[in-house]
Amino acid sequence: MTQDELKQAVARAAIDYVVDGAIIGVGTGSTANFFIDELGKIKHRIKGAVASSEATAARLKSHGIDVLELSDVDAMPVYIDGADEITAQGAMIKGGGGALTREKIVAAAADKFICIADGSKLVDVMGKFPLPVEIIPMAQKVVSRKLAALGGEPRLRMKDGKPYLTDNGCMILDVVGLTIANPAELEAQINNIVGVVTVGLFAQRGANVGLLGTVDGVKKLEF
Ligand code: A5P
Repeated sequence: MTQDELKQAVARAAIDYVVDGAIIGVGTGSTANFFIDELGKIKHRIKGAVASSEATAARLKSHGIDVLELSDVDAMPVYIDGADEITAQGAMIKGGGGALTREKIVAAAADKFICIADGSKLVDVMGKFPLPVEIIPMAQKVVSRKLAALGGEPRLRMKDGKPYLTDNGCMILDVVGLTIANPAELEAQINNIVGVVTVGLFAQRGANVGLLGTVDGVKKLEF
């Protein structure tokens, strides 16, 4: 099976978690895109969706799914999204696609986080995938120094020869070289750095369920 087929399999499995008549939170990235395509097939069952990025909003709309503003939503039972790394405890690194801040906000508003990923994302210790940190542009140097003091090597994310800008108009530092032994503690430490908007560690509020695509089928983890 290809990696895309594994992603498609978990996207299909995630449909079981869609709550009829409710509003669903939808993540960003290639796995979330496969999920959106599946959601399009059962759109009559849901009231609408909250998107974690402009790209996700556009894809949801292309399937005729109503996209609501989070501030207009009172209840959201489920948020479904991918991850760059996930541990057996449900902590994740996210933000490879740059949508970490809105993903964290929409996830925080949902009762349950269902993480969908191909099995290669499951790791014992996170940090091999560079940790994305969204920052206010003027804080680039000062935040970089603080991240270096934590043992990482921050690299400014670039796109087309210019700093990559998020949907929020902010920059991203991708931090390499970290071994994340205590994800919740590191999340709090990095969030405390002035100039940081969001760190792409989802540990204090991790996943409730992990659906991981393997050659033997979709493996379900509950946290
Ligand atoms: C987007 O900002 C990310 O958090 C994605 O959820 C994450 O990078 C996983 O992406 P893929 O599904 O494309 O692997």
